[in-house]
Amino acid sequence: MRIAVLCGGLSNERDVSLSSGRGIARALRELGHQTVLLDLFLGWTEELAAVEDVFAARDEDSAFSVAESAPDLAAVRAMRPGQGLIGPHVLDICKAADIVFLALHGEEGENGKLQAYFDINGVRYTGSGYLGSALAMNKSVSKTMLRAAGVPVAESVTVRRGEAAPVPPFPCVVKPCSGGSSVGTTIVRGPEEYGAALDLAFQYEDSVMAERFIAGRELTVGVLDGKAMPVTEIIPKSGFYDYKNKYQPGMTDEPCPAPITADQTSAIQALAEKVYDVLGLQAYGRVDFIMGRDGVFYCLEANTLPGMTPTSLIPRMGRAMGMDYGTLCQALIDASMKKYR
Ligand SMILES: Nc1ncnc2c1ncn2[C@@H]1O[C@H](COP(=O)(O)OP(=O)(O)O)[C@@H](O)[C@H]1O
Ligand SMILES: [Mg+2]
Repeated sequence: MRIAVLCGGLSNERDVSLSSGRGIARALRELGHQTVLLDLFLGWTEELAAVEDVFAARDEDSAFSVAESAPDLAAVRAMRPGQGLIGPHVLDICKAADIVFLALHGEEGENGKLQAYFDINGVRYTGSGYLGSALAMNKSVSKTMLRAAGVPVAESVTVRRGEAAPVPPFPCVVKPCSGGSSVGTTIVRGPEEYGAALDLAFQYEDSVMAERFIAGRELTVGVLDGKAMPVTEIIPKSGFYDYKNKYQPGMTDEPCPAPITADQTSAIQALAEKVYDVLGLQAYGRVDFIMGRDGVFYCLEANTLPGMTPTSLIPRMGRAMGMDYGTLCQALIDASMKKYR
């Protein structure tokens, strides 16, 4: 197949996406696909005679390591000042592809707008459609839907910029409603830390949440083509599962399958499939939970374009199912193509 792998863009998870994109492009080439790796924001900057030529075999892209903190997006924007999200020739190249592999993570790229733009332009892409993407991106909206469907979620208040913030019970977790990779997220132990946590979250977004802190074990479940993958436990060696603990190798233990009982495994897998259905996700996704000390599986969020970096969870779940990285990438494409039958 002719495949454009889209990565980069202008979200806080830009670097994570560059890492996912390089891994995916390399794996797809090894599988024999004609592949081009494109930065959504920077686009194709070389001469473009015939669009088909960009899919011709090129040198392997070396792996990209994610830095310890989120990237400086102002510096990236300055590379194409005053321009929108989509770089030169991106649409032409995506139209010429049999499918676009979305290696994008974070608000821009994962929130449904690009998916809608591609639908309108007749471009096929991996993962969920625009509506599921939008619903899952906003944690406040998705929690309202999940609560109504009987999926346990932690109580929370949503605060908009400029509004008086209600004081929640502590400890709580303050996070941007549409954030990702824990960027702008703080665990707040008491009222004296609350203001600074809100200020930090508001640096990223106009709507933020203060959510009850759930003490317990963190578990995450991939869903591939509607079916749950092996459950993974997330055990950071120190602190919580923040940006650094997510992307620096060796910072977090991630046993997969998770050391929980068979009954717990089937219960959380059924819940993950339900979350996927309720939010209308397609092809694949990953649902994050905390198993509280009360034994309840609280759903934190669903990710429609979960990480595909070397340390990411979906590739780990794939390995536990006997799928190497390339086989997994192909399975994600196959599941995504079903949208277009
Ligand atoms: N209510 C909560 N109770 C305990 N820990 C939480 C809670 N919400 C978030 N966390 C911690 O913060 C991390 C990121 O939160 P999450 O809601 O999954 O957002 P994202 O991964 O999109 O940044 C989680 O993996 C978890 O470690
Ligand atoms: Mg998460």
